[in-house]
Amino acid sequence: MAIVVEELATDDIGLVEDVVGEELGWLNGYYARYCLEHSACQGLKVVVDGRVAGFTLYYYVDIGIPSCVIYYLAVLEEFRGRKLGSILLESVEEVCRAKLYIATTSIWNVASQHLFEKHCYKCFEFDTLYELLGWGKVDVLVRATCGYEDDIVCVKLWGESVDVVDVLKRVRDTRSLERVWRRVCAEPWWKLFKS
Ligand SMILES: CC(C)(COP(=O)(O)OP(=O)(O)OC[C@H]1O[C@@H](n2cnc3c(N)ncnc32)[C@H](O)[C@@H]1OP(=O)(O)O)[C@@H](O)C(=O)NCCC(=O)NCCS
Repeated sequence: MAIVVEELATDDIGLVEDVVGEELGWLNGYYARYCLEHSACQGLKVVVDGRVAGFTLYYYVDIGIPSCVIYYLAVLEEFRGRKLGSILLESVEEVCRAKLYIATTSIWNVASQHLFEKHCYKCFEFDTLYELLGWGKVDVLVRATCGYEDDIVCVKLWGESVDVVDVLKRVRDTRSLERVWRRVCAEPWWKLFKS
C-alpha cells in the first residue's frame, strides 16, 4: 500500500466539500470550500494507492501565542481505522509550525476527541473553559477556530511542559485574529445571506 501526503489541489475542493458536508452538515461543507477557494486556509491530503483517502484544512493565527488551527480533518469512511487520521494530524503539525495547535469538535464526536487525545491534545468543553478562563479568553478561542457550532476544544502546546490552561490565559484579541476571523468565519456567513 503506497501512502503519500501532499498539498490539496484545486481539483480536490469538490471532494472536500462533499465529504465534510456528509460528515458534518452542508454548512461545514460550504465553509470548507469557501476557505480553500479564498486561500484563507491551506490543505493536505493523504493519498493511498493513488486515491485521496483523507484531508485536513488548517491555518495560522496569532492570538498572543502563535497558533495553528486544524479547521477540518476527515478520512473517507472506507479508509478509517488505518492510522490515516494520525498521519494527517502529524503532517499538519509538521508543516504549520506554531506554539499552540487548536481544533474544535462536538461532544458526540468521540472518534475525533480520541484521535486528538492520542496525540497529546487536551480536550475541554467550552463550558469548563468559561469557568477556568472567563468569557473573553474563550471568545478569542471560538473566533480563532470559528468554532461556534462546537462544544469541545482540543489544544496542544508545542515543546513546553507547562499547564496548557496557564498558557491559554495568555490568549488575547489581536489584529491577526480579526483578519483571520473575517476571512475564515464572517465573510462566508455574510455572503451566504447576501445571496
Ligand atoms: C476522526 C477521524 C478523522 C479518524 O480517522 P482515522 O484514520 O480512522 O483515525 P486513526 O486510524 O488514525 O485513529 C487514531 C486514533 O483515533 C481514535 N479513533 C479513531 N476512530 C475512532 C472511533 N471510531 N472511536 C473511538 N476512537 C477512535 C483512536 O484512539 C485511534 O487510535 P487506536 O486505533 O490506536 O485506538 C475519522 O473518524 C473521520 O474522518 N471522522 C469524520 C470527520 C470528523 O468528524 N472529523 C473531525 C472533526 S473536523
